[in-house]
Amino acid sequence: MKVAIASDHGGLNIREEIKSLMDEMGIEYEDMGCDCETSVDYPDYAVPVAEKVANGEVNKGILICGTGIGMSIAANKVKGVRCALVHDMFSAKATREHNDSNILAMGERVIGPGLAREIAKIWLTTEYEGGRHKNRLDKISTYESK
Ligand code: RB5
Repeated sequence: MKVAIASDHGGLNIREEIKSLMDEMGIEYEDMGCDCETSVDYPDYAVPVAEKVANGEVNKGILICGTGIGMSIAANKVKGVRCALVHDMFSAKATREHNDSNILAMGERVIGPGLAREIAKIWLTTEYEGGRHKNRLDKISTYESK
């Protein structure tokens, strides 16, 4: 599995935490910025990660900003992306099992690094259940291809 990860200036600390988690888990990743601690614009980081996921260059993406909201809104504009904004462990599991989410968004002004690490660990290791959920995801894909 390969993961693309990025944050804006509001998500630098959690980005480092999740990179260290992926190092421990032996997961290959590409760090797509940002490189600065000054203010940047989250769509400039969300869209390139989302495009890499959508075109299959990487299997999954992780995006962090202050709230996670801007990153998730921008990522979900890219066709084929199912970005889930998650701040609890129940949803981390459920969104992989039910939504087959391919990008995880989190907000560093909402949760701390410890919870973010647990959420990411669950999200990275939980499989999609398929079954009854497939029809629902197919409906989203059908809408996207209109
Ligand atoms: C940046 O100040 C902040 O707006 C951004 O990190 C994010 O929270 C947007 O949704």
